[in-house]
Amino acid sequence: MLVGNWGMSGTFGFAGFGSFVPEAVLTNADLEKIVDTSDEWILRRTGIRERHILGKDESILDMAVAASRRALDDAGVRPEEIDDIRVGVNTWMRFPSLATQLQAALEIGAASASDVSAGCAGFIYAVEAAHGAMYLEKERYGRDTTALVVGVDGLSHVTDWTDRSTCVLLGDGAGAVVMKQTDRGAVLATHTSADGRYGDMLWSDFVLGTQSKDDPREFTHETTGPRPYLHMDGRKVYVVAVESMVRDVHRVIEKYNIASGESITVEDIDYFYPHQANMRILESVAKRLGLPPEKLYTEGVKRYGNTSTASIPLGYMDNRARFDLPGKRLEIDMAFGAGFASGAVLRSVVG
Ligand code: ACO
Repeated sequence: MLVGNWGMSGTFGFAGFGSFVPEAVLTNADLEKIVDTSDEWILRRTGIRERHILGKDESILDMAVAASRRALDDAGVRPEEIDDIRVGVNTWMRFPSLATQLQAALEIGAASASDVSAGCAGFIYAVEAAHGAMYLEKERYGRDTTALVVGVDGLSHVTDWTDRSTCVLLGDGAGAVVMKQTDRGAVLATHTSADGRYGDMLWSDFVLGTQSKDDPREFTHETTGPRPYLHMDGRKVYVVAVESMVRDVHRVIEKYNIASGESITVEDIDYFYPHQANMRILESVAKRLGLPPEKLYTEGVKRYGNTSTASIPLGYMDNRARFDLPGKRLEIDMAFGAGFASGAVLRSVVG
């Protein structure tokens, strides 16, 4: 029996999905006009064809609101029914939190609301936190709760458009899920991990005083003043990314087996949503886990580039029909990011 419920009085999973990407598309051909690169190089090294970029009148909050509205509609849940808002985000570099501004924009009313900063693994961390809180409320207080969990990032706001080694990789987008007690599937196990010693492989500037007002590194946005640009040692990131995603998949399966008394393996997992960083990382992860290509979501990296915390929930929406296929299935989400923070979620899907 593969889809256990740990003997809980309820199972908590995804009841609705939503996503949003800005209209403006930046192709590899467009990038050839900005930096010394080529469509051929980008495709061969990363698999990315195009990415969506925020226009100057669009904001990270706008993307979060649009994706959340779609997820609420899909779940048939009204904003005022939400008890908990968790937003994985790295590029909302101010306070109050994005989660509270999303709460106000959607007129959710009284609810817990917080941002989760865990690099590109932010959505995984947010799902783990929302699931833990939901489980506790139910087990300890007998209270059914509903959560809105969002992954959103505007990486174009921190992209150095003169750095060809990073600007070709990044895009903007948002994805959201509504989590509640549902018979459509459940979060079965989560695992998160971080290692701050790798902090200097992928980082952003401390914004104050790092760039002058006349800094020429500006592209689509009419931002004046300094910006915290993203920097990365791509080769080192590649190695740690592959290692951490493979490790987290094994660990989350192990945790599920401990809690359920079952003994599932990687072969029992029907589908994987990896963070869409680049195709070569995904291919290496698939090889190390022995996954056939049809079990791995890779469409996002081609069409959206690396959208950080948004990439996994964007993938759910791209594959929305998969969630309605008849029968029970097991799926794993896995991500890594700055920090180095990483994690995996094992879920069941009941169509
Ligand atoms: N176009 C053309 N040439 C380029 C480009 C570009 N866009 N970028 C770099 N190059 C050049 C370099 O200057 C270098 O030239 P040189 O040999 O003359 O010095 C050459 O290509 C090789 O550069 P490397 O950086 O060694 O290229 P590599 O094979 O490592 O590929 C890449 C770069 C694709 C970034 C790779 O390192 C990678 O996939 N790293 C993982 C990065 C990643 O996805 N991180 C995740 C982002 S953040 C997150 O999601 C958490």
